[in-house]
Amino acid sequence: PVYWVNSLKYPGWYVTGYEEAIAILKDTRFKNRIPLPQTSNKYENLKNLQNDMMLFKNQLDHKRLRMLVSKVFTPRIVEGYRPYINETVNDLLNQVKDKKKMDVVSDYAFPLASLIIAEILGVPAEERFQFREWTASLIQTIDFTRTRKALANGNETTIKLLDYFRELIKKRKHNPQDDLISMLIKEEQHGGKLTDEELLATCILLVIAGHETTVNLISNSMFALLNQPQQLMKLKKNPALIEMAVEEFLRYESPTQMTARIASEDINMNSATIKKDEQVYILLGAANRDPKKFFNANELDITRNPNPHLAFGYGVHFCLGSLLARIEAQIAIHTLLERMPNLQIASSELQWRKLIGFRSLLELPLT
Ligand code: HEM
Repeated sequence: PVYWVNSLKYPGWYVTGYEEAIAILKDTRFKNRIPLPQTSNKYENLKNLQNDMMLFKNQLDHKRLRMLVSKVFTPRIVEGYRPYINETVNDLLNQVKDKKKMDVVSDYAFPLASLIIAEILGVPAEERFQFREWTASLIQTIDFTRTRKALANGNETTIKLLDYFRELIKKRKHNPQDDLISMLIKEEQHGGKLTDEELLATCILLVIAGHETTVNLISNSMFALLNQPQQLMKLKKNPALIEMAVEEFLRYESPTQMTARIASEDINMNSATIKKDEQVYILLGAANRDPKKFFNANELDITRNPNPHLAFGYGVHFCLGSLLARIEAQIAIHTLLERMPNLQIASSELQWRKLIGFRSLLELPLT
């Protein structure tokens, strides 16, 4: 469950056990990241921006940022997006209903995640198409399977997206609306201690964190269900199982497969000593299939209960968007099965992207 791998690209400790993963994620001696060296222009690329994201901050800085964003991302506020999510899901299905084929990734899950995050951040409706193009390109920059050219384009797009957010923040400072950016500015103005860079980094973090993972959750769930007719029938017969089913999809095909920490001192774990500054990779997907924790761990069971999976992480960095992701996936999967009950996978050669950290289908064509 705790194993040293001397890989060239990612040497470090790999943690596959459930209890061991929890022990590390709740131990604050394991830091999230040492700050990356800044290059000349602070925000010319994503790496520089990461230093101002809560995900990569530790202790007090992390607590301050997380508290601020939690204030404007409460369960009541997130629940309030249900009608918009319902409407968007139905609009997207209306657009494909007369086609012979649809791709769950690009026709459904991606535009859904993009439109929802745009709504939450307060991107005006008429700018959402452009926003979607930029975010699609930004997400490509964190996909290591893409070419150098895509990465270069991605950096250009990052700058465009940053400029766009800078303008939007300026507009909201003068003319606040009922959106997350305006609410964060209000907190800042009431002594919330949020720098302009942190506000910008938070917007980008929400765009990144809220996309890839949610898209993968919806596509991976449909992939798992359509390959397991008994589970599919069970859900069709009893749609009220959708909440439990989504928890099982999160466990069984975890969208985020891995997160990382760095030891800030020598730490003993099982019979190993993790030395100061050594990298630790926590394989959430493996922990979620640990047979010591989950009965029949390699089987999909949409009625599994309890289901204490680690798909959203654990401890102080536990996913801030977990409720939003759950609601989006529940509505998206339920509505797709209800409106198109006879869907089938239209290809026998599906490709998983070559990423170590995400479980991600390139496309999922259905007929
Ligand atoms: C953190 C997974 C959706 C925002 C995390 C972490 C995981 C995760 C594993 C912890 C990383 C770590 O400890 O190093 C997921 C999955 C999602 C999802 C599987 C969808 C299925 C979202 C959405 C949003 C979001 C929709 C927001 C719109 C965040 C933020 C953090 C985070 C802000 C950082 C929290 C902190 O550092 O305190 N997510 N996430 N996530 N997630 Fe998510």
